[in-house]
Amino acid sequence: AAQVLARPAPEGPVATLAEEVRTCTRCDLCRHATQAVPGQGPRDACVMIVGEQPGDQEDLRGLPFVGPAGQVFDRAAAVAGMNRSAVFVTNAVKHFKFQARGKRRIHQRPDAGEVEACRWWLDLERELVRPGLIVAMGATAAEALTGDGRHMARRRGRIETLEDGTPVLIAWHPAYVLRLPDADARARAEAELAADLTIARQMGE
Ligand code: URA
Repeated sequence: AAQVLARPAPEGPVATLAEEVRTCTRCDLCRHATQAVPGQGPRDACVMIVGEQPGDQEDLRGLPFVGPAGQVFDRAAAVAGMNRSAVFVTNAVKHFKFQARGKRRIHQRPDAGEVEACRWWLDLERELVRPGLIVAMGATAAEALTGDGRHMARRRGRIETLEDGTPVLIAWHPAYVLRLPDADARARAEAELAADLTIARQMGE
């Protein structure tokens, strides 16, 4: 009998979108970064986590939140009982923006034009995943999603609603937690991030 050979599984739509992100030249950041870092996670994720942009490690590995900020995120997610592989983790900007200082690459905040150019990808990721809740970690993600650039202090821990009705929970950025000068403040901010991720996990269940 003729043998029916299994065809290679077609690439899923998340993988296809990721491939497109990797070829992006929508702004100049692609000229210096090692590679674009697409969002990572299942298409049917209920919760989408949005950061600012890849850092040094993320740029080298091509994955979001795998460096020091990623460790803070992973710790807070563990406290929250959030399974990282069940959520879609991405960034407002997909290329690392930095200033070379000797051998070090110092993170630079993306400007409004770069965030705007990259919203194309964030919108496509949102359309594909259609999360029930988005967690915006930090001011860049919050502004990219809501268009509102107000300071974080009054917004953190609250839910804002996007035009399409999607709730966005505003949370501290893990790198902000790391930059806080004293240990008590760091511990408090990390606990607040964990509390916000707990709410996200509960809403996503
Ligand atoms: N900071 C971010 O905002 N995103 C990452 O992926 C890593 C660090």
